[in-house]
Amino acid sequence: MGKAAENRVRLDKMLADLGLGTRSQIKDMARRGRIQVNGVTEKKADVKVNPETDQVTVDNALVSYARFEYYMLNKPQGVVSATEDPVHDTVLDLIRGKAGEPVRKDLFPAGRLDIDTEGLLLITNDGELAHGLLSPRHHVDKRYFARVEGELPPDAKKRFADGITLADGTRTMPARLEVLSGDNPQSREEGGGLEVILTIREGKFHQVKRMFEAVGCGVSFLKRLSMGSLVLDESLEPGAYRALTEEEVEELKKWRDTGRRS
Ligand code: URA
Repeated sequence: MGKAAENRVRLDKMLADLGLGTRSQIKDMARRGRIQVNGVTEKKADVKVNPETDQVTVDNALVSYARFEYYMLNKPQGVVSATEDPVHDTVLDLIRGKAGEPVRKDLFPAGRLDIDTEGLLLITNDGELAHGLLSPRHHVDKRYFARVEGELPPDAKKRFADGITLADGTRTMPARLEVLSGDNPQSREEGGGLEVILTIREGKFHQVKRMFEAVGCGVSFLKRLSMGSLVLDESLEPGAYRALTEEEVEELKKWRDTGRRS
């Protein structure tokens, strides 16, 4: 298939992805003559267009459609890493269009952070990139800052480096533990605990918390700092997000393709 043909998408999908309405609403908009493609009124919503080369307007306003979008979110506590949730706000509720623009409907979080975990979350509609980054085969490093309660055993670093057996018998891949602070009494008083950085190469359910549990400790605070080459922009307050730069996207794709070891 030629490149031009590959890039073609259905008009109703493109406009629905952009949040301009449901497919049936878009069909209705087309029927009423509100949509033009390259200056010509298009009454059929199921025609295919090339978003890169065709000019699409709705009510005379030009719409722009990048095939893939990539955002880094500093996930705050209290929201869930899902596209929909009956109880809690989701990370997608935080990705709002500028000046109330509609938000595209095909975005999803690449991976999950627990409701009480903060930090870096990639939000995209690029399923191939997300799958590659999350695949256990690619061993993409994920770095976490954690506050740990309890006494770390003296051989904790070695045990993490060898791979930990979790309570359910699952064996983890080797992980790198760095202790940042000594046992800081003030941090303990603040409910803080020992400050550590843990780098893991997988994304098992509650993995960091379960690894510390396996060595007799609890995690009172957890924040993801990086995933592969993508590092959380510390200027983003919890709940804030920004688009990735082109370089960040290209670097991530390299990690996805090669994987890297900590
Ligand atoms: N490990 C956890 O235990 N929780 C997270 O949210 C991420 C990694």
